[in-house]
Amino acid sequence: MNLTATNHRIPLSDGNSIPVIGLGTYSDPRPLWATDHTPEMVRPALERTLKVLQLDYVDLYIIEIPMAFKPGKEFYPKDENGQWLYHKTDLCATWEALEACKDAGLVKSLGVSNFNRRQLEVILNKPGLKYKPVTNQVECHPYFTQPKLLKFCQQHDIVVVAYSPLGTCRNPMWVNVSSPSLLKDDLLNSLGKKHNKTAAQIGLRFNIQRGVVVIPKSFNLKRIKENFQIFDFSLTEEEMKDIETLNKNVRFVELLMWKNHPEYPFYDEY
Ligand code: A2P
Repeated sequence: MNLTATNHRIPLSDGNSIPVIGLGTYSDPRPLWATDHTPEMVRPALERTLKVLQLDYVDLYIIEIPMAFKPGKEFYPKDENGQWLYHKTDLCATWEALEACKDAGLVKSLGVSNFNRRQLEVILNKPGLKYKPVTNQVECHPYFTQPKLLKFCQQHDIVVVAYSPLGTCRNPMWVNVSSPSLLKDDLLNSLGKKHNKTAAQIGLRFNIQRGVVVIPKSFNLKRIKENFQIFDFSLTEEEMKDIETLNKNVRFVELLMWKNHPEYPFYDEY
């Protein structure tokens, strides 16, 4: 089967477009990361990524997290007492460095990730803003539907990209597993039976049907194929509403280990 979403794209505010489904590829280490937020480090970090990917440019480049960490070789820098080594964050300065990467032709579109409303507004209201963020990648699935952030983003032509759309891999090292497993949900499974689909496919369809891009992570070919088979059925308006009632307003990915970072994004309501 064809593992593309060529005919299923959402327009972006900069004139480009994004497929409604992509391959989640979460793993460590990352060639870009929050240790490279210092403006002069942004382009070299992107160039390292392009080299690894053997590409001249990427379609979309994002600030993965609004919290900067101490620059250097350590992806997760800590001091000798095991305390996180943060770095002073100037989101606008980092954003201007991303804008320069777009002007240099190294990237087509610019976005952010894990930004709350206030942090998005910092960028949107930046004096002399050249390019608006076109996407905000955040946790989003039937147990965490993000109604307020989604509305705010839609009002500002920012497409929401859902990470962990299947409810994460539930690794207790970094996932809040006090919330029950999404894919075991009764409603998702009964809707799956009705549509001859799996709970995973129902959850993914729910998001794309309301304009949210999904990037389910799987390193398993059978499940990757399954995740792309979401274009041959649709959920009724009533089914969409029923799934919305599953929202628990509880994150699986809380990032609590960084809760004392000045730019920790998840204290605000949205
Ligand atoms: P695997 O890589 O073994 O397929 P999320 O995208 O929400 O972070 O979810 C990722 C987790 O869900 C991974 O553990 C992945 O495992 C699993 N997964 C991906 N696709 C499916 C699917 N169609 N059905 C069940 N589990 C899936």
